[in-house]
Amino acid sequence: MLHSLVSWILVGAGAYLVSAQVAIDPQLVGTWSSKSNRTFTGPRFYDPIRDKMIEPEHTGISYSFTDNGHYESAFYRAVANPVNPACPKGVMQWQHGTYEKLVNGSLSLSPISVDGRQLTSDPCNYDRGIYLRYSQPEIFERYEVFVDPYHNIMRLNLFMFDGSPQQPLYLSFKPPQMLPTTTLNPTDTPTATSGGKAKRTVSPEDSELPLNYKAFRNRIKRYNADYWWYFGVGLTGVGGVLYFCF
Ligand SMILES: *[C@@H]1O[C@H](CO)[C@@H](O)[C@H](O)[C@H]1NC(C)=O
Ligand SMILES: *[C@@H]1O[C@H](CO)[C@@H](O)[C@H](O)[C@H]1NC(C)=O
Repeated sequence: MLHSLVSWILVGAGAYLVSAQVAIDPQLVGTWSSKSNRTFTGPRFYDPIRDKMIEPEHTGISYSFTDNGHYESAFYRAVANPVNPACPKGVMQWQHGTYEKLVNGSLSLSPISVDGRQLTSDPCNYDRGIYLRYSQPEIFERYEVFVDPYHNIMRLNLFMFDGSPQQPLYLSFKPPQMLPTTTLNPTDTPTATSGGKAKRTVSPEDSELPLNYKAFRNRIKRYNADYWWYFGVGLTGVGGVLYFCF
């Protein structure tokens, strides 16, 4: 009797320890996105089969969390170009891995380092984006989930390591919209010696891939068309002036 009581207590304590270790907060589960609600984690941001990033309609950030400790993040930022303010660079970053709520309330994100990707594009200077593997563990000092009183939707505030708030995120999808949570590009693991087929990997040496080139080509073309249009208006003006003068 006493023995079984003790073992029940042990089982209970063990279960408590396991759950404390995994530390999942069900409130976090879902796909969160910044105000534009256009950048989302999942297959519309990163295509792991073609190893390609897909430019969203609008800059923004997105995080997804599962109820079993996995996360995914998607960032699409414009970086100011002081030389040519009309021509910002674009940076896209994608990562996934595991997350944990620590006992002190911090949120720790550990990416699968071989899977993360970063694409930097400078459409006015280069036709091609610079594509690299990207891995950046993150720790948020704390976070809060609540119903946003103005928009009446769930809101997630993440506080950076120094305590400063990141831009607010709003719940876009629940269950979350994510790619498979397992390693997608296993390059660190030794591959079977059976086949002659080499696995495609991205390394800094072969990092220049023509990604996003369609969107940026179009932008460059449009820019040129405007330029030639104004040039034409200018010539017409000059022609008109010349006509009246002679
Ligand atoms: C919580 O603990 C982690 C890991 O020890 C640490 O990195 C983090 O700074 C702590 N957070 C706070 C708010 O003290
Ligand atoms: C964000 O976009 C998704 C997909 O288009 C939509 O289902 C969701 O309702 C949107 N959320 C908000 C807050 O507008």
